[in-house]
Amino acid sequence: MCGIIGYLGTREAYPLLIKGLKRLEYRGYDSAGIAVLNGSLSVYKKMGKVAVLEHYASGEKVDGNIGIGHTRWATHGIPSDLNSHPHLSNSGRLAIIHNGIIENYEVLRTELMAEGYVFHSDTDTEVLVNYFESVLLAEPNRAISEVISIALRRVTGSYAIVVLDHQNPDILIAARKGSPIVIGKGAGEFFISSDVNAIVEHTRDIIYPMDGDVIALTKNTIMVRNLEGGQWYVPEIKVVTNAVEELEKGGYASFMLKEINDQPVSIANCLAGRIDINGSRVVLPELDLFFPDINAVKRIIFVACGTSYHASLYAGYLIESMAGIRVQAEYASEFRYRDPVIDGSDLVVAISQSGETADTIAAVELAKQRGAGILSLCNVAGSSIPRLSSATIYLQAGPEIGVASTKAFTTQVTAVLLTTIYLADKKGKLTEERRKELLGGLQAVPELVRQAFALNDQVAAVAKRIKDAPTILFLGRGIGFPVALEGALKLKELSYIHAEGHPAAEMKHGPIALIDAHTPVVFIATQGPLYEKLLSNMQEVKARKGIIIAIVSTGDVRAKELADHCIEIPAVEEALLPIVAAVPLQLLAYHTASLLGHDVDQPRNLAKSVTVE
Ligand code: M6R
Repeated sequence: MCGIIGYLGTREAYPLLIKGLKRLEYRGYDSAGIAVLNGSLSVYKKMGKVAVLEHYASGEKVDGNIGIGHTRWATHGIPSDLNSHPHLSNSGRLAIIHNGIIENYEVLRTELMAEGYVFHSDTDTEVLVNYFESVLLAEPNRAISEVISIALRRVTGSYAIVVLDHQNPDILIAARKGSPIVIGKGAGEFFISSDVNAIVEHTRDIIYPMDGDVIALTKNTIMVRNLEGGQWYVPEIKVVTNAVEELEKGGYASFMLKEINDQPVSIANCLAGRIDINGSRVVLPELDLFFPDINAVKRIIFVACGTSYHASLYAGYLIESMAGIRVQAEYASEFRYRDPVIDGSDLVVAISQSGETADTIAAVELAKQRGAGILSLCNVAGSSIPRLSSATIYLQAGPEIGVASTKAFTTQVTAVLLTTIYLADKKGKLTEERRKELLGGLQAVPELVRQAFALNDQVAAVAKRIKDAPTILFLGRGIGFPVALEGALKLKELSYIHAEGHPAAEMKHGPIALIDAHTPVVFIATQGPLYEKLLSNMQEVKARKGIIIAIVSTGDVRAKELADHCIEIPAVEEALLPIVAAVPLQLLAYHTASLLGHDVDQPRNLAKSVTVE
């Protein structure tokens, strides 16, 4: 949440900062701002998207070779010009951008007010920059990097910050704790960013500071150390290979549409090299580490948030039934605070597209402290969760920029299924025939997803029917339940229509009260062991005049008789259902939101990467 960008070097900072902010905008788009130093500080900030800021600053002379920029997802204080970053200290000497939450800001603010400091915004960030200034005044002989380290030792909460000091015009200071920062090194220049994708077109030489690091940059030097002290050192540089073209819409009207269409390729990439040449074995050397003796792992606990949690629920159904290992799927945000009983016989698996979700990181840290092995299924290489894990299965989905998760979900499901086959095999639970059947099914999935795109017009017609509904239910059973949850999440986050996902049998325990002639009910009703039961649930909805939309297997007859709209997806093995069924559900959310005139890439109130708890 919030994107931060910094530049110092020999080029004009302003255009680089604006470009970087556009790349980072998916992290938050309540407001945007920049500060550039060239003798004096030029600060421009505006509520709204980066384009609004750009328009506002156009015609101004914003020159200088050092600057910082921020795109905000509001935590403390409403989205407004005043609450936008950068924030200045009272004297105007320091400018700061910040991603995170300062938890003890009220105490600091009270103390600073007693010292005579005045605040113009409601933010915790303005408190932080004035606290830096107050420590600076108390310690006038110390270097700015030292002052910031000293001050941060008293600060609780999470932050990724960059500070620009009017009296040190050749230095940028950054620090991170619980929020991400990467540094890019060019020739006589450095970039600071919340993620690599915002700077990779300028440099592929990347430094990943550790949590708790302070970084001091001049245009030719970088020094890092832990904020608690110790020696400054020159950090290691890693060379990344991210493709810049993947960061563009590539002719599509939105990133979401592009990412839906990417899925056949991203799933194929996720499978690449992970099934042996005969199509008969899963090759996941990442997992060998955890399972020298399969029976030593007594339980697998999945921790995740949002869409990634839905992939975890799917893992629960699949691994228990196929591999016979106990599995728990947990919301990371609950797990981290409920004092869970875990030990060295547990394997904790974190699922995260970004690898930066604050609650998932905290859940992993807790599990690690308690001795559990940590595996992650992640999309973004170099992000925090893989760095905390003993091994990572990368999703290989390519950058996902639309806020709504699409290709991340289907590759997560793909990676979970590969993992399950690996485990079931180790447990001796799969016959050769069954394994071949599953792997053959997986290899056919990219093509089946491509076929599912043909449903687009049909789904668009259903979107017209549901777009004015006050509430929509999504129901499924077994593996169809996490799919129903995902369908509901996708629809509500993009269309802002109230939507709930439930196990279909739970409907009678409450949600059925929502059903009347205006309530669409989306059933995941493909052929499977609970198909008959789903038909009964449909009857119950029909008896209450609900509008039935059924996702069914091609050739279905009986659900068709009950449903108002049937969307036929290719018949697949149950374990593959979430991948193929996700496509019409993604399209349904996309079309409904588009008909309502919403921005599908940047839906209101949301941000792609939830880096605050
Ligand atoms: O990056 P992560 O997978 O850890 O993100 C978790 C959720 O914030 C995310 O899946 C969110 O629910 C989706 N953007 C919803 O489409």
